[in-house]
Amino acid sequence: MRTLIEGGTVVTASDTQRADVLVVDGKIEGIAARFEGTFDERIDARGRYVLPGGIDVHTHLDMPFGGTTSSDDFESGTIAAAHGGTTTLVDFAIQAKGTTLRQALDTWHAKAEGKAAIDYGFHMIATDLPPDRLAEMGDIVREGVTSFKLFMAYPGVLLLDDQSIFRAMLRAGELGALICMHAEHGLPIDVLVQRAIASGHTAPVHHALTRPEAAEATGTERAIALAEMAKVPVYIVHLSAQRALERVVEGRDRGLPAYAETCPQYLFCSEDDLRGKPGDEFEGAKFVCTPPLRPKHHHEHLWRGLRNYDLQVVSTDHCPFCMKEQKELGRGDFSKIPNGMPGVETRMYLLFEGVREKRISLNRFVEITATAPAKIFGLYPRKGTIAVGSDADLLVWDPERRHTLSKETLHMRVDYSPFEGREVVGFPTVVMQRGNVVVRDGKLAGKAGAGQFLRRSTFSL
Ligand code: URP
Ligand code: ZN
Ligand code: ZN
Repeated sequence: MRTLIEGGTVVTASDTQRADVLVVDGKIEGIAARFEGTFDERIDARGRYVLPGGIDVHTHLDMPFGGTTSSDDFESGTIAAAHGGTTTLVDFAIQAKGTTLRQALDTWHAKAEGKAAIDYGFHMIATDLPPDRLAEMGDIVREGVTSFKLFMAYPGVLLLDDQSIFRAMLRAGELGALICMHAEHGLPIDVLVQRAIASGHTAPVHHALTRPEAAEATGTERAIALAEMAKVPVYIVHLSAQRALERVVEGRDRGLPAYAETCPQYLFCSEDDLRGKPGDEFEGAKFVCTPPLRPKHHHEHLWRGLRNYDLQVVSTDHCPFCMKEQKELGRGDFSKIPNGMPGVETRMYLLFEGVREKRISLNRFVEITATAPAKIFGLYPRKGTIAVGSDADLLVWDPERRHTLSKETLHMRVDYSPFEGREVVGFPTVVMQRGNVVVRDGKLAGKAGAGQFLRRSTFSL
């Protein structure tokens, strides 16, 4: 199958050029000013950008959490991702306490197989890691799951103590695996939560007020210090706050391989959203995620971090729960609101607003949504760029097309949108994976089950 993408502006993390892209049998065969010959399909990209498909390295599909299960499964979640221009995601398999890492991996393969419409990989959340289980990490890495998420928060549920974290870091170092850290100091947070509930402070906004910036800053510092002692890289997930970013900057300035991602909700939403609407404070439940949304002044720091290469990635932490029957579990007790927000479909739209507002360049947009996640998580150069030999995971992106974000038009299986009514500019008119069109003009052209499991390489930056 030979497809020519003609006349577009091809954008990578480093270059912007007017060129045709020739795709043969799912791979990029050539990039040139002009190709002659016969093609099975010609896609007109004049006046449009040709971008690498988005890579979202932080999703929670079909995940049991907070007394319920995230509302997108691998079918609905990957179809939504594709509509928004994401062609690869890395989801978190989660070890239930008392079970093996292998069981968790088998469970996640069963959830994804035959359902995913785009390519996918897994990280492994380890929740139960006594010394005699560390050997299992090697089996998981050999299966192409080359990163582990550990939690400093959620005592009794997900939290790992510092000794277990440190042992896991040492083992990861031997294996070439990357530790991803949920870096909030969870034990004092739990005390604050209990005291708030006991004092009758039960509304959603107290989710933010009981998880202060200091808890994330100290968690981030501790994670980086542990990684420094173990002599391994560390990747801080869903960084939300100025002081946590400062800890990353300090580490990086000392030459440590500390990496961090933020998420669109921390760039576009704020603690004010958690206050709900006049007369309906529970509306704030739509915005309960962890770490919590911060006051607006944090936005500028995070954008600067993205511009300055102190933050490397924007992922979504897509973890959707409907208001009905899910977020409602926490009416009258914010601590029972399932933590998480939908976002896998809206990431590229929102980040492109950053390009339009000149917060980041177009090349940096490509880098933080595709190239850097591919490099950090062992998918490069197969994914994350437009280069000869890479998978033809491509977007034809119309930079002028306006559309309005709404739960009615988005494809995520959730009964609200945090961005309801927001007009954005920029739209993927063609979304291609390995040469196959998955979404064309907003209509699904691919199918559930077409996505392939990606065995990722070990960390090599
Ligand atoms: O609120 C969030 N982030 N839910 C998903 C779990 C996590 O910590 O990433
Ligand atoms: Zn987390
Ligand atoms: Zn998460």
